[in-house]
Amino acid sequence: MEVLKINDVSKVYEGKVAYTALKDINLSVDKGEFAAIMGPSGSGKSTLLNVISTIDFPTSGEVILNGQMPHTLEKEQLAKFRRRELGFVFQNFNLLDTLTIGENIVLPLTLDAVPVDKMNKRLKEAASKLGIEKILNKRTYEVSGGQAQRAAVARAIIHSPSLLLADEPTGNLDSKAASDVMELFETINQNEQVTTLMVTHDAQAASYCHRVIFIKDGQLYNELHRGESRKQFYQQIIDVLSLIGGAAK
Ligand SMILES: Nc1ncnc2c1ncn2[C@@H]1O[C@H](COP(=O)(O)OP(=O)(O)O)[C@@H](O)[C@H]1O
Ligand SMILES: [Mg+2]
Repeated sequence: MEVLKINDVSKVYEGKVAYTALKDINLSVDKGEFAAIMGPSGSGKSTLLNVISTIDFPTSGEVILNGQMPHTLEKEQLAKFRRRELGFVFQNFNLLDTLTIGENIVLPLTLDAVPVDKMNKRLKEAASKLGIEKILNKRTYEVSGGQAQRAAVARAIIHSPSLLLADEPTGNLDSKAASDVMELFETINQNEQVTTLMVTHDAQAASYCHRVIFIKDGQLYNELHRGESRKQFYQQIIDVLSLIGGAAK
């Protein structure tokens, strides 16, 4: 079953000179998939993720998410849709400094007025999945980058979203913390079938995925599927990146 289907999506940024950032993108992501989008800087990765996450609107084409077309919803319905169906992980963690780690994690449930006992139960489960039970009462500035990102992942999955979206989730982490976070994404995907789509320029991070979709100049370039070996997949990813540019890492 498809969680995400993108039909002929184009995005034109209007300005003095109109710029076509995405051109006729067709893409689908199945339930339980773990996919990455890669491409050179300026190829349209963030634009595509913003269109999928409903932060931005396509100029033409359709985005179907869990059987719905979020871009056609009224503002309030759209906000609710985003809150319930999507989870987000960002490069800079986006945790609120005024809240504890635990309060940050339950934020999506607080916004949806979930009862406190249910909320605490979910918090416990999410924290144990991510190995951060001991830091729930700490502030964001008292934990490491890796811990902060694990908290951000916990927050992104606590409401069991249909689709987990991540933009450069390892971008601010050292390589050890990056592989720890990727292993967690992998485990969560395997154990709970959380459908995950992430943008990354890091081939190491992408090699944890089942599929890597490459875009170039706003168009799909090709895609790779992972076989048995992650090491071999990593090499294949590097090879495509060196063809299209953007093999910085
Ligand atoms: N708000 C905007 N207005 C005009 N052009 C934009 C805007 N956002 C992005 N672009 C242009 O669209 C292209 C794709 O950008 P982006 O999706 O951010 O690429 P990537 O994330 O792959 O680096 C770039 O050429 C960028 O300059
Ligand atoms: Mg980007």
